[in-house]
Amino acid sequence: MANILLTGGTGYIGAHTAVVLIESGHTPILLDNFSNSTPKVAERIQVITGVKPMVIEQDVLDTAALVDVLNTHDIQAVIHFAAHKAVGESVEKPLSYYQNNVMGTLSVLAAMAQAGVHHIVLSSSATVYGENGVPPMSEDAPLSATNPYGQTKVMMEQIIRDVAVADKTLRYAMLRYFNPVGAHPSGQIGEHPRGIPNNLMPYVQQVAIGLREKLSVFGNDYPTADGTGERDYIHVMDLARGHVLAVNHLLAGNDSFTVNLGTGKPVTVLQMVQAFEQASGKPIAYTIAPRRAGDVASVYANPQLARQLLGFETEYTISDMCRDAWVWQSRNPNGYDEA
Ligand SMILES: NC(=O)c1ccc[n+]([C@@H]2O[C@H](COP(=O)([O-])OP(=O)(O)OC[C@H]3O[C@@H](n4cnc5c(N)ncnc54)[C@H](O)[C@@H]3O)[C@@H](O)[C@H]2O)c1
Repeated sequence: MANILLTGGTGYIGAHTAVVLIESGHTPILLDNFSNSTPKVAERIQVITGVKPMVIEQDVLDTAALVDVLNTHDIQAVIHFAAHKAVGESVEKPLSYYQNNVMGTLSVLAAMAQAGVHHIVLSSSATVYGENGVPPMSEDAPLSATNPYGQTKVMMEQIIRDVAVADKTLRYAMLRYFNPVGAHPSGQIGEHPRGIPNNLMPYVQQVAIGLREKLSVFGNDYPTADGTGERDYIHVMDLARGHVLAVNHLLAGNDSFTVNLGTGKPVTVLQMVQAFEQASGKPIAYTIAPRRAGDVASVYANPQLARQLLGFETEYTISDMCRDAWVWQSRNPNGYDEA
């Protein structure tokens, strides 16, 4: 059982991972600058698990402060979630993205080296497969990016690989998430994007509660079952469990690895809309809009390697994802702020 530092730990995926870590007997410590989250998450985690995790307000760019945290709390592994993550915003503010995501990763690695912490799990993304990949995506596919956010993920991976070549004591797990959706089934924690959501599911959720009028479906002439783009949606609790398997694998002394975390099953936009309507009982108004530049028809994972290395199998279905997203959204229309 280990003390594990979660940078960006009060964010969407960090909070769910903290729940599964606590349930597995680990002690997660959540470090965040709250640029896209709130410390209130800790109380919700306590409602679910009975344990209130420690939350530290800190920016990952402050290396000296990180060293102090790693030493003070006897940290054995870091799960590095902290990053900006909006593709569109990264095109508008590339400096901010390179600064936060790339410099943040350098800072975490430097602090780990100074404090003698040897295990890191990185939040990577299917976006590193760029737009030319042929699904199902396998881990050995060439990497590329079509926007600054994607570039930062390619760079973050490369930096960790290079550091691990030089420092033989460093072990890493690179986790390439496909499309995380849903929420803890209790409805206590979930995703609450600020402003207009970038991703399909939060947008659909906001249409369902009347916050947005209708969904724009970008393109219905792709070569898929119904012409709309297809993606690989993974329930955030399955994703969270993947992190615990990954960190346990590293702590057990195994070699570094890079794996996809997805279901391997593509779902179209309209299939997702239908599943959400069924789960919520709410009609989702939508219009068909032209294709968006940079979007591809189909992205889904080859999930074999994670299965083989970690025994990782997804358990939640699309209807579970929609049900849990709806429970969260309908009970917390203002996110973590009280209604
Ligand atoms: N959600 C997705 O669809 C998705 C897909 C693939 C990869 N990822 C990656 O997973 C990670 C977590 O994503 P999420 O969906 O939980 O996002 P999130 O925004 O909810 O969580 C990220 C957290 O990091 C914090 N943070 C950002 N910069 C920081 C800094 N400099 N110092 C300290 N804290 C900082 C934010 O306040 C936030 O709490 C990110 O690295 C993201 O790029 C997310």
